[in-house]
Amino acid sequence: MFGRPTNAEENAERQYNGKSESIGGLQQFKLPWTSVNKETLTAKQSFAQNVFGVWTVAHTGRTFCQGVSEKNAYPGLTSWHRSAVRSRIPGTMKRQKREKEWFDDDDFWRETFSYVFAEKRQALASEVVDKALTLTKLEGKSALDLGCGIGSFSIALAKRGFSVTGVDRTKYLLDKARAKARSMDITVEWVQKDMRDFVRPEAYDFVLSMFSSFGYFDDRAEDAAVLRNIFESLRPGGVFLIDILGKEILAKVFQTSSAQTLPDGSMLVEQRKILDGWTRVQNEWTVIRKGRSRNFTLQLNIYSGQELRQEMELAGLVDVKLYGNIDGDPYGTDAKRLIAVGSKPKMNRRFR
Ligand SMILES: C[S@@+](CC[C@H](N)C(=O)[O-])C[C@H]1O[C@@H](n2cnc3c(N)ncnc32)[C@H](O)[C@@H]1O
Repeated sequence: MFGRPTNAEENAERQYNGKSESIGGLQQFKLPWTSVNKETLTAKQSFAQNVFGVWTVAHTGRTFCQGVSEKNAYPGLTSWHRSAVRSRIPGTMKRQKREKEWFDDDDFWRETFSYVFAEKRQALASEVVDKALTLTKLEGKSALDLGCGIGSFSIALAKRGFSVTGVDRTKYLLDKARAKARSMDITVEWVQKDMRDFVRPEAYDFVLSMFSSFGYFDDRAEDAAVLRNIFESLRPGGVFLIDILGKEILAKVFQTSSAQTLPDGSMLVEQRKILDGWTRVQNEWTVIRKGRSRNFTLQLNIYSGQELRQEMELAGLVDVKLYGNIDGDPYGTDAKRLIAVGSKPKMNRRFR
């Protein structure tokens, strides 16, 4: 069988082929196999190398990478094997040059601020954090607020004695977060970074992603990469909580268009379309302010409860539970939000 992929390898190829372009395939980086050894992997991953030099790396027992190091490659192996070297280790993906996406437009966040960051919702942050802590039965005091925006949840956690990192890509919003924390004499570490690039191995007891800060990328595989980063950034036993508008809720309340006056007096007209067989939703937002109008087009990946749970499990999270609100009511017909909570296993399961 020299040079021929085994079934497991073919499966890995099928699983990852076609996704590598956008999330970091062989052509984008060199896999740092030389730095991957038992010592660097034991805490987080397990690995096995077969006699032909084919490596299998697993996260909590789940295979997520198979490949051949250039150095160790058996001469009889085919180019397939070499091209199968793809890093699936969170944080080792070399960042690709990305096209500008809708959420990279700071004007979008500025123009829609009074809607997306409505004061009424922000004022509830403290209460929501208390409920989140009850729901997660959290142990430990370090937290990552991913897509933290103006930092309301980061600040509420810091007030409760957490050491907090707030990560967001939007400088305009982070500046507001910084100013608010400073005015309250509260310390939070603010990091301006794309969530696809932020990973801090085993640094946090709690990661939270609040109010639809997930699903922004054209390729769902990038959402999956974010979940792997989250898994990697959690300490064993740490908890991830995510709050999005679930597909089931969206289907129930869906309207193709709506208009409203925003708290700052401007008008927001929304036109919505479901794309790719209920995979994505497109929103065209027109903001009319002082006789001037601005148009923005947003696209979000939409997840059902089952899909979100599956993605979280694929990232390695366990005991994933779904709720219909932050009070912990079931994700049923009365659900207002899709809240999912999952944990990183306390013990690393060994690769079998
Ligand atoms: C709907 S807002 C929610 C903000 C905050 N979690 C809250 O509940 O108020 C989504 C946030 O995600 C941030 N964001 C969008 N794309 C991002 C990315 N690729 N990486 C990091 N943050 C991102 C935005 O800047 C924005 O602050």
